[in-house]
Amino acid sequence: MSKIANTEYPVLDVIRNRWSARSFSEKQITPEQLNTLFEAASWAFSANNAQAWNYIYAFNGSEGFDKLVDCLMPGNQTWAKNASVLLLNIADKWMGDRPYNAAKHDVGAANATLALQATSMGIFSHVMGGFSSAKAIETFGIDTEKQEPVVMIALGFLDDADKLEEPFRTRETAPRTRKSIEEFTKQA
Ligand SMILES: Cc1cc2nc3c(=O)[nH]c(=O)nc-3n(C[C@H](O)[C@H](O)[C@H](O)COP(=O)(O)O)c2cc1C
Repeated sequence: MSKIANTEYPVLDVIRNRWSARSFSEKQITPEQLNTLFEAASWAFSANNAQAWNYIYAFNGSEGFDKLVDCLMPGNQTWAKNASVLLLNIADKWMGDRPYNAAKHDVGAANATLALQATSMGIFSHVMGGFSSAKAIETFGIDTEKQEPVVMIALGFLDDADKLEEPFRTRETAPRTRKSIEEFTKQA
């Protein structure tokens, strides 16, 4: 399968096998499985253990799901409307009375942990920055003094790439690439 990371070193299978899918099947994630993903996310590291992450979630077929779909940019709506679960990921802006400078680092760590747990359960995840933050804030009554939307995430089981429209069909099967280690590291 071309999506599996072709690594030079012995990277964990769960990391090699995670990729951002767009073709989701009708098989639904159960509440138990979703709670497993949230619990995994909660075991990410965070500054001072302040756990800046928050998730608004909805299962496909619910009113909440349609509200979340409405927050997405049209290109993402096309395929993410078939996800089993949609998440709106929100960061806390304050750690007590101090600005929470590492909040997005913590939120990203939680999302990565959630995604790897999902991979181990055969569930695919796809992070999306393409959504209207303003719409999400209004729809879900987010207090922007305290919190900030970061990304949305589609979750579900994989289906055939053939059911996607172009350009998504081609992207779904395209090999994944990365910078070489030399491009992003330097010995001190
Ligand atoms: C912060 C962030 C925003 C992203 N926004 C989108 C998006 O709006 N739409 C989309 O299709 N993919 C989006 N992606 C997915 C990336 O394109 C994807 O992770 C990247 O190409 C690497 O592919 P892989 O996850 O399959 O390894 C986003 C990923 C991240 C982390």
